[in-house]
Amino acid sequence: MSRHVLAISDLSDEEIESILRRAEEMEATLERRTEAAHGGDAGAIPRSAAGRIMATLFYEPSTRTRLSFEAAMWRLGGAVISASDMKSSSASKGETLADTAKVVSSYADVLVLRHFWDGAARVAAEHADVPLINAGDGSHEHPTQTLCDLYTLKRAKGTLRGITVAIGGDLKRGRTAHSLVRALARFKANIVIIPARGMEFPDWLLQKVAEEYGYRPTVARPGDLKALARDVNALYLAPARPHQLTLFTDTEFDLQERLAEAEPITLDALYMTRPQRERRDDTTDDGVEYLRVDTDTFQDPTMRHTVLMHPLPRTGEISSALDRDPRALYFRQAASGVPVRMVLVEMVLAE
Ligand code: NCD
Repeated sequence: MSRHVLAISDLSDEEIESILRRAEEMEATLERRTEAAHGGDAGAIPRSAAGRIMATLFYEPSTRTRLSFEAAMWRLGGAVISASDMKSSSASKGETLADTAKVVSSYADVLVLRHFWDGAARVAAEHADVPLINAGDGSHEHPTQTLCDLYTLKRAKGTLRGITVAIGGDLKRGRTAHSLVRALARFKANIVIIPARGMEFPDWLLQKVAEEYGYRPTVARPGDLKALARDVNALYLAPARPHQLTLFTDTEFDLQERLAEAEPITLDALYMTRPQRERRDDTTDDGVEYLRVDTDTFQDPTMRHTVLMHPLPRTGEISSALDRDPRALYFRQAASGVPVRMVLVEMVLAE
């Protein structure tokens, strides 16, 4: 049985922790290598994919995900094959995804698939004879982006447990948010969700998080952001607030302990997403209030330790005036794609 990574739940806690740890070492090795090019001491990058081939099958546009997977494979000593545009491949002649996965498995040792259908990765994996990694399937999941997000967040905050993370934007169709909320609940972060109206997380997803981790994220509205940064406690404590949906059923959660100690809770991270216009099924979201941040939002002293994240591409959710702010981590998230995916590819190839 090949080792597929189709959803964040395909990785155990130990595997995720080990990937994050090893990615840190990998990143340090990559940095030493860059320094070596300028006369420093070269670190040895493991050539663990030497002689192996990765096939990237992208049925949807991608910059970061595809290029960082491909860079990761080359860095590990492997090679990459790719149909430059799946629309110009046999798919345009009517070939099924199942047949494509089967055929390409005989050319490559690992497949990386991005597809516009929810669940496409699982279908393809059933027909693939080699490990398949989901690089985003419709509105469903994007587990490797979540690994990059967790990696960046953990490096910035030292831990995931007990930190408070707000996730805003298109939570209905944003696959990065879908994988992230499950991972954050699993690692016992406190989650505040700030959907634009009509773009709430699907019920089945929140239900799953509640069943699996005994946890329901708190819901806020875009206009609440400043109040939220000032006093996250208020959101948890004031039962009269209309959006006060939070109920922590798991008494082990650090939040409860922190509330009991009346310790102020600050927003540790704000994770933004763009409206997934290409996947919207109607136009009802035209003109709805959407969470956007600019230097003004981030000037509030209560946000001095709030890091700002985004899987990119951004389409106006974050002002470029924030790019040089040390709290802006979105380019670091993107850069982490190479070391994180190197470690993941090594892992699936080794099994
Ligand atoms: C994301 C995606 O494809 O879901 N992009 C990415 O992989 N970094 C986010 C998005 O497109 O909004």
